[in-house]
Amino acid sequence: MTTLIINIRQLVNTREQTELLRGKALANLPVIDDAFLLIEDGIIAEYGAMYELELKVPNLPVDIIDADGQLVLPAWCDSHTHIVFARTREEEFIDKIRGMSYAEIAAKGGGILNSAAKLNAASETELFNSAWERLEAIAKLGTGAVEIKSGYGLTVEGELKMLRVIKKLKERSNLSIKASFLGAHTYPLAYKENHQGYIDSIINEMLPVIGREKLADYIDVFCETGFFSPEEMETICRAGMQYGLKPKLHINQLNSIGGMEAAVKLNALSVDHLETMTGSDIDLLAHSDTIGTLLPTAAFFLRMQYQPARQLIDHNCAIALATDYNPGSSPSGNMNFVIALSCIQLKMLPEEAINAATINGAFAMELEKELGSITIGKKANLVFTKPVPSLAYLPYSFGSNLVDKVMIAGMVV
Ligand code: NIG
Ligand code: FE
Repeated sequence: MTTLIINIRQLVNTREQTELLRGKALANLPVIDDAFLLIEDGIIAEYGAMYELELKVPNLPVDIIDADGQLVLPAWCDSHTHIVFARTREEEFIDKIRGMSYAEIAAKGGGILNSAAKLNAASETELFNSAWERLEAIAKLGTGAVEIKSGYGLTVEGELKMLRVIKKLKERSNLSIKASFLGAHTYPLAYKENHQGYIDSIINEMLPVIGREKLADYIDVFCETGFFSPEEMETICRAGMQYGLKPKLHINQLNSIGGMEAAVKLNALSVDHLETMTGSDIDLLAHSDTIGTLLPTAAFFLRMQYQPARQLIDHNCAIALATDYNPGSSPSGNMNFVIALSCIQLKMLPEEAINAATINGAFAMELEKELGSITIGKKANLVFTKPVPSLAYLPYSFGSNLVDKVMIAGMVV
């Protein structure tokens, strides 16, 4: 099936070459004004300015969409989420309003442990159905690719159940999905006094099944004071790497405790959160191949300091943006709001934020060959905006839904 989109006011992030953007390059967002885009069997087949249409597409297809006044962008690549969960956690939201901190809530059995208790009690079908609804909702908001983590099981059965749900989501959804094993999200109560016992369970009981059933692409660890130390993270990652799982890590959210050094040494695909960064953390990241994934809605929701995006970009780091969609620290999967917040509070330019949410997000899931830019041969995962005066209007007009429609592999969702 062939579809031609004509009269696109601006076609955004058109690239012949796909490369990870770092530092100054993030501000370069190539666009074509008054453009067309040709889709064949879900794949971008041609694009260009309207005046080139006759030359580039001599035989017009029957199926033509007039995008008069609209912008067309590559769909968002949300490279960090926890969208498989059993219940939301509004009670803790109220506790936080009343003054408790995220760490205090976790210490009294709330937080991740609260989600784990509920997840272990839920059936695979319930988990699949609720995650499916969240997937459909984020697709309508413009997300075309998403990474999903385990980490609310914290038992052998619970972690495997989560990963099997993610595997089924991958099989049934048109969205591109990657799975990360986050067994090391926190220590479960049963192992409160026996950390090594839980690490042994991850390594000897969970990972072999995950490897055998190909249940994950990446391994993740929450490296934080009161959670996993950099040394423990390294041990767990090295075990995961034996099964082909690359590290993709939670570090520097609340404290800087040496996670960056360990992550860079492990050649992690990405290090995520980064609210709390020292000068040496920034330096280490800048001189590595690791992507820094900023999760500004987590900082927003927890009322923390925002990620130092300007410093990271000025030091030539490669930056991606993601939602961290989860019931505890970011109960929203809206990438449009992530982009707006990044511009408003992290002082990223709209061009930088859009690159970080598309092409660099694709790199942070190793999907850059098929997604993240308007490139011939890539999947036609696209956001069509409502008629807007400019690209900058998208983050400027935060909170309004400016997505008119979304295509996944050339089909409107
Ligand atoms: O990325 N920080 C660790 N994990 C999640 C939050 C998990 C939760 O509170 O349920 C995060 O923010
Ligand atoms: Fe997270």
